Amino acid sequence: MTTIHDLKAWKAAGRRFTMLTAYDFPTAQILDRAGVPLLLVGDSVGNNVLGYADTLPVTMEEMLHHTRAVARGAERAMVIGDLPFLSYQVSIEEGVHNAGRLVKQGGAHAVKLEGPHLDLVHRLVDIGIPVMAHIGLTPQSVHAMGGYRVQGRGEAAHRVADEAEQLEKAGAFSIVLEGMPAELAGEITGSLQIPTIGIGAGPSCDAQVLVINDLLGINERVPKLGKKFADLRGVMTDAVEAFMREVEAGTFPDEDHSYS
Ligand code: KIV
Repeated sequence: MTTIHDLKAWKAAGRRFTMLTAYDFPTAQILDRAGVPLLLVGDSVGNNVLGYADTLPVTMEEMLHHTRAVARGAERAMVIGDLPFLSYQVSIEEGVHNAGRLVKQGGAHAVKLEGPHLDLVHRLVDIGIPVMAHIGLTPQSVHAMGGYRVQGRGEAAHRVADEAEQLEKAGAFSIVLEGMPAELAGEITGSLQIPTIGIGAGPSCDAQVLVINDLLGINERVPKLGKKFADLRGVMTDAVEAFMREVEAGTFPDEDHSYS
């Protein structure tokens, strides 16, 4: 299984790697067997699978449900469970409790949380829960940011770079850099020992993450940060239409698909 030590070693060796989101068992199995080393059960399950407008309504129960399914499908990949909005911001105790649930009840090997919650990161690392940090464009703060806007431009670059440094000191084993200028992400990557995982943060990060629905072309719209590597929406539509045509024409089920 991929470990936090592998990631550090890959960074030191200059080996780039990938992380993908996964929300269910068959997808986790496919990604795991393809060799993706990190599977993130992102709270993006909210807008990609559950039909919410954003990630804010996602609950701990929903995260546990999807984390369990992904953990069942992953044999080699490290499974990272995302802490949803308001499951860790109210108190450190609640954050520890909920992170522990993702590991204990969900089968996650590590957790991810958004923003510079340094004391919580420290505490989790202390009790043995590896933490992936996430800074820059943090979707759980969509309203505070005034929309999904690039972060860390101009003067704000110092604040973002400082957060990255503090999170490394607090013990995070890696850090997602989302929606920030490529130059800033490159500087942060060069200044840290832990790997950076970019999305909308340019090519200099140690790793790249994509939302699986964007990569496969499942959603109607792919955001600027995503890239469509396939058109599964088209493939699914063609298959469903072919099924309807065969049933309407009376050619399915044929002899091969019937019992005598
Ligand atoms: O929830 C998620 O999918 C994420 C990734 C985009 C990093 O946080």
